[in-house]
Parts: sequence; C-alpha cells; structure tokens
Amino acid sequence: MLPSLPSLAASIALLTSAAYSLPRNVLSGPDGGITLSAPSMLSARDTACNNSPDLCSKSYSQVTHMGAHDAAFLRDDTTGNSIAGNQYFNATLALDAGLRLLQAQVHNKNGVIELCHTTCDLLDAGPLEDWLAKIKGWMDANPNEVVTLLLVNGDNQDVAAFGSVFTGSGIDKYGYVPTGGSSGGGWPTLQSMISSNKRLVTFVASIEASASAPYLLPEFAHVFETAYEVTSLAGFNCTLDRPQSAGTAGAALQQGLLPLMNHFSYQALSSSIMFPNVGDIDTTNSPSTSTPGALGLHAQTCQSQWGSKPVFVLVDFWDHGPALETADKLNGIEGKTTGRTTPAGAGGSNKKSAGSSNSGTVGVGKAALVAFFMAAVALF
Ligand SMILES: *[C@@H]1O[C@H](CO)[C@@H](O)[C@H](O)[C@H]1NC(C)=O
Ligand SMILES: *[C@@H]1O[C@H](CO)[C@@H](O)[C@H](O)[C@H]1NC(C)=O
Repeated sequence: MLPSLPSLAASIALLTSAAYSLPRNVLSGPDGGITLSAPSMLSARDTACNNSPDLCSKSYSQVTHMGAHDAAFLRDDTTGNSIAGNQYFNATLALDAGLRLLQAQVHNKNGVIELCHTTCDLLDAGPLEDWLAKIKGWMDANPNEVVTLLLVNGDNQDVAAFGSVFTGSGIDKYGYVPTGGSSGGGWPTLQSMISSNKRLVTFVASIEASASAPYLLPEFAHVFETAYEVTSLAGFNCTLDRPQSAGTAGAALQQGLLPLMNHFSYQALSSSIMFPNVGDIDTTNSPSTSTPGALGLHAQTCQSQWGSKPVFVLVDFWDHGPALETADKLNGIEGKTTGRTTPAGAGGSNKKSAGSSNSGTVGVGKAALVAFFMAAVALF
C-alpha cells in the first residue's frame, strides 16, 4: 500500500539524523626537514596526540571529540549544492582541519552498503567501502591521530556485512576493541591507542556485537545521545533522547555510557519535510557561552548538568563557528594546537550562493526536494 507522506517524512528525518564525526591528525608538514637542530619542534611533533601534546595522557573518554554530522553528505559541487547536504567540506578535509569524529548514514543499495541520506534517490555519496578507504589513507598518513566513526544503519544491515566492508577497505587494522565489558571497561589514553595502533573507534547503530568483527561496537551499548530533531535554536537541551532504556542522562553516565551532544538544527519545510538549517549556522556553531542556541552555551550547559563534558559533539557545516573552538575550550587546548589545515573558503558566508540571495538559492533546492517527495509519493 501507499506510504503516507508523513511516514516518508519521518523516515527522511531519521535519515538526516544519521551523522557522526571524528578526530584529526598531527603535523603533516615536511617532517623530513626536522633535524636535531630543532629539538623542540621534534619533541612537540612526536608527542602531539589529536593535535595537542596535552591530550596524549588523557583517556579517550576524557576528551571531547568534535564531529561532522552526516560527514559524507555534502552541499558542494559534487552534489549540485544539494540542500540535503549537511557539510560544505568532505571527511578528509574535516580530518585535516582537526575534527576527529565522522558520522554518516548507510543504506542497502542492491546489496551494497551505500552512504545515502535518507534514501539513495535523495543523496547518494557512494559505497561505504570507498569512503572508508579514504579515511584509512588519511590515518596511514597521520599515525598520531585517534579517529571515531559513527554509522547510522538505515536498513538494519547485518554486522557481518559491515565487517566485510571494513576488511575490504583495510581500515579494520586500526579497529579498537574495548577490553572490558560492554561499556568499554575504562577507556585507554590516546597515547596508548596510538602506540598500539588501535586508534579507530567505530560505533554502529542497530547491530549486534560480533566476535568476527569485535571492533564494530553497537552504538547504544557505549553511547547515549541528546535529541537530534531540533527545529529551533531554543530547542537544544541536555536530556537523554536515546537509548530510552538508559533512563536519564545521569543514569546513563553511571552506566559508563559516553555522552554525545547533537548540535544541529533543521528548517521545517512542512510539518514533515526538514532540511539542514544553514541560515542560522553562524549562531548555531558559535563558541559563545552567552548566546541562546550557540554551541558554546549548549556544551557548557550540558557539562554543568552532567558533571562531565560531552565526549562527542556533532555539528552541521563544521567550518562555521568555527565549531572546533568549542571542543578546544572543553579540552583546554585553545590556541595551543598543531598540525591543522583549514580549507580555503571555510566559514564563508553563504559561500555556495554568492551573488544571489540565499533565500532564492534555497528556494530552488526546496522546489527540488518537494518534487522529490511528490515523485516518491506518486511512485508508491
Ligand atoms: C575530499 O576531497 C579531496 C579533494 O578533492 C579528495 O582528495 C579526497 O579524497 C576527498 N575525501 C573524501 C572522503 O571524499
Ligand atoms: C529536549 O529537546 C528536544 C528537542 O528539541 C525536545 O523534544 C524535548 O522535549 C526536550 N526535553 C526537555 C526535557 O525539555
């Protein structure tokens, strides 16, 4: 029978929620140029972990990992500036800039695990395996970096299917396996993960743990999240949204679940169609701790309510804010980082619609999105 428009919209909203981000790397400059005549540079380079020597001795769970929500879903030339896109810059550039958490959503496309945003008709970013291979390449080149992946399992594909994709990309070699218990049993320091070269933490929603791919961690055995379907800047809070079974944020923390703060908002096109809200992005991602709706204030509020800072944060359009400033403040490394590269055009105002009014550009996209939904309704 025909799915209703509201149910389609709900599934789209779910899809849009699937995004997580990752950590970044150390000095990637001309390392060969460093000699004994520059001992301080040498030691700083050798000891920086996730862009700061101060983080090496911190446990994974004591660090705030700034993340790109829907990291694979781009609003750029590769997608015709799709309004379904959540980021201006791709995952490699996010890692270069210093993000260390990458979140994305996958679907089953003719038996292939594909990076699709809600549906593969709306935005298809290609096979997960290809994307993982690029992230693996980045990790190969950046050996002092601990990276986290969070995958939303749109069509509930089996853990074995994910395992073969991870193996195929080669990134499984970095997969970290928690030592004790479902809640991690105490997380190691970044330095220890780097030394053992097990420096990729992968959470996947809606999988069972499996001995054949023990590094694929069922998300909600380790993580709890705040709400992700926020449609106004006044809508951010620190209340546990998932997993409901954990009860409250306080109870989840007691169980050892790591807090993930979702901090992105949607613009509602109708009661059931939502798309990433870029109009307010400079406020949304601002490090301000006094502006309502700002990332800085949300993080400070959660830290105060929880008695611990968010371990994971997900934002859209991460180059705005810049979002990393909030994580650096929480990590106590603001202004003291090394090895980051910011892409040209980062944080630009409406960079994809220069020369025309933002509303005009978005209007065209809206029409396309509405047409997509109408077509979907007509097809079924
Ligand atoms: C991001 O874009 C750069 C430059 O085009 C490219 O080399 C890199 O492979 C891309 N990364 C991903 C994850 O698509
Ligand atoms: C927290 O925010 C979400 C999304 O805006 C909302 O649905 C929920 O009711 C809020 N919870 C509380 C306790 O305010």
